[in-house]
Amino acid sequence: MRIVLDTDPGIDDALAILYLAAQADVEIVAVGSVHGNVPAQVAADNSRRILDVLGLDGVPVAVGAARPLAQPLLTSEFVHGPHGLGRWEGPEPSRPAVRESAAEQIVQLARQHPGELDLLALGPLTNVALALLLEPELPSLLRSVMVMGGAVDAPGNATPFAEANIWHDPEAADLVFAAGFELTLVALDVTHSARADADWLDTLAASTGPRGKFAHDVLGFYVDFYSRMLGERCCTLYDPLAAAILLHPDLATYRELPVSVELRGEKTRGQTVADLRGYGKEISAELGGITDRPAIKVARTVDGPEFFKQL
Ligand code: BDR
Ligand code: CA
Repeated sequence: MRIVLDTDPGIDDALAILYLAAQADVEIVAVGSVHGNVPAQVAADNSRRILDVLGLDGVPVAVGAARPLAQPLLTSEFVHGPHGLGRWEGPEPSRPAVRESAAEQIVQLARQHPGELDLLALGPLTNVALALLLEPELPSLLRSVMVMGGAVDAPGNATPFAEANIWHDPEAADLVFAAGFELTLVALDVTHSARADADWLDTLAASTGPRGKFAHDVLGFYVDFYSRMLGERCCTLYDPLAAAILLHPDLATYRELPVSVELRGEKTRGQTVADLRGYGKEISAELGGITDRPAIKVARTVDGPEFFKQL
């Protein structure tokens, strides 16, 4: 599988990259950074630092959008640490980012390899929306798009209603969900299955290899945040779950739903909205409120133990 990654590392993003890099049948073709957990430039630096640790210094990294489409930049260093990789103090990146923007990189690669690439989006969808504006045929040029984001049938995390990646750029997410991509959404509906518990964290702490040690060092800050928030030693590995479902679609069950994003709600901006009434198309349309955009695949259940085995 040939994957283009769009990411805002970010601690769970770092774990997702580690996970992908460990798969023999995965090629990380390129990485684009996006604002979100940290500013886009910092996310690009972190992407290169992580790839350096993994010996993947040939993978091109492009700097992505510096801010959302229609709101000011907001970042989440309180979750991911002052530089986005917890308390890890590894070396600076060994090489510069490429000249194109992350959106341009997506478009160029998709045109060069039509129908061959899977895009894994682990941050706000600003770059994907910009790529779509540059190349309206993008949905037919990419094989699939896997998005970690949203809370279709669950409470939010950034706000009571909005999940962080969507909340960081609601307009971009709405464009992407309407575009007709072969898109799968791994939303907060299922990420409780990706909560690492104390036993798993202890196992990781005991690992002596360079990757395990790196993962443990990076995770500490994030575990402290989640442990304070949830009252037990744990953390949620959102982005690795989306990566794992991309590689192993059988880890999840799905439902097909048109999903839109609340853009104007005073309290609910950034909420992912789908018609969950289950009345069927005809009655729903008669009653009103169903969107006419294409359905996307929304993960409904996940085999958590199998996910952790993979990870
Ligand atoms: C998402 O937001 C970020 O904090 C994480 O990296 C993940 O992509 C979870 O809501
Ligand atoms: Ca992320």
